[in-house]
Amino acid sequence: MSFISPTPSLNGIIEKFPLGASFSTSTSATTTTTTSSSDGTSEKTPSGENKTLDQGETLFTPIRIGDIQLDHRIVMCPLTRHRASQQGVHGELGKTYYGQRATKGGLIITEGTIVSQEAGGEANVPGIYSDEQVEAWKEITKNVHDKEGKIVCQLWSLGRVADPSLVEKVYSPNNIPYMSTERGPHMPALTVMTEDDIKRFVNSYKEAARNAVRAGFDGVEIHAANGYLIDQFLQTNSNTREDSYGGSLLDRSRFLFQIIESVISVIEENKVGIRLSPYSTFQGMRMINPLETFLPLLEGIMNKHPNLAYIHVIEGDQSGDDTKELRQVVMSKGNGTGYISAGGYQVDQARKVVNQHGGMIGFGRYFISNPDLPARIQSDLPLSEWDESTFYTNSAEGYIE
Ligand SMILES: Cc1cc2nc3c(=O)[nH]c(=O)nc-3n(C[C@H](O)[C@H](O)[C@H](O)COP(=O)(O)O)c2cc1C
Repeated sequence: MSFISPTPSLNGIIEKFPLGASFSTSTSATTTTTTSSSDGTSEKTPSGENKTLDQGETLFTPIRIGDIQLDHRIVMCPLTRHRASQQGVHGELGKTYYGQRATKGGLIITEGTIVSQEAGGEANVPGIYSDEQVEAWKEITKNVHDKEGKIVCQLWSLGRVADPSLVEKVYSPNNIPYMSTERGPHMPALTVMTEDDIKRFVNSYKEAARNAVRAGFDGVEIHAANGYLIDQFLQTNSNTREDSYGGSLLDRSRFLFQIIESVISVIEENKVGIRLSPYSTFQGMRMINPLETFLPLLEGIMNKHPNLAYIHVIEGDQSGDDTKELRQVVMSKGNGTGYISAGGYQVDQARKVVNQHGGMIGFGRYFISNPDLPARIQSDLPLSEWDESTFYTNSAEGYIE
């Protein structure tokens, strides 16, 4: 979180990326952030009026992000925990788990939730495509709402990282397997997605979003991070397609933009968030100059969809890179769009970032080991450390208190 990388030249990239009439060729976000630190950072209110942050915001200052009103800025990150059934349905464990982490005016983002059976490929992760799954989610959203909390559903497709024993086909933008430093080589036979496959997946996001509304969620988050399918389309190390879904940034981002359109045809834009991880090397990702892709991408997203609820960026300990420029794009172009920063945050650092820049902080692992995390932070109580050995088991231990 310490520095600003040399600003890449955006000329050319932006010009090739004319997403909608409102797409801008301005590089003002870049110049603004390189000349100042937090000073001058501004947020737009939902009415579109600029307000300058007075540096008096704290983790416990209320904030409205799109349609979602929050009492505090401590967001529970999406956390896959493998506690759903083989059919991707949450049972009592999951219901208790989310209920225990709900707080008044606090935002929970669910674990990655499969948009269709063919989008899956990890054991015991939940889905949101069957009635049974929706019924289980209804109880979870109710538990959270009973505590006056908010919950959005993270919509997920795995793509090339899927376990081939769990899906008929492992879909991928190209036939490029990833070399995993975390799990060793992962080289299943890949099915390169045709345009029909792409259309079907895009439609699955619409159905999933519709189901999320039925299940009582306050919104959805489109998972475009961490080397999963959408990210695989965005980045050149996994996308070398020569059709209209590969090549230029405009083409590589077409899949994401079609998914956004598809989702907002059934749920208001101000209930939709997007998660990005420009710097993460997880699952064979990270381009040489991430901002050359992610800065104009975000400008394009915000120009076309200024009413999004939030943009969620994984930064922090992933690499030590700074994402001030991305934050600035969201703050300056969004119409009430919030910015969630996540990745390796300690409490002091979270306090400092919100004091200086506003926005919200996503906590992942600390929410696993501290179900009452916001209360602990507010009362300055020590935090329990997490136990990694319980992250992905199928039991109550390390999952619920
Ligand atoms: C057990 C575990 C499961 C995760 N599952 C997801 C997931 O489903 N979707 C996602 O976008 N990120 C996922 N992440 C990443 C977290 O959301 C978060 O970005 C990461 O843990 C860094 O934040 P932290 O340092 O506060 O834990 C997961 C991380 C962990 C540790």
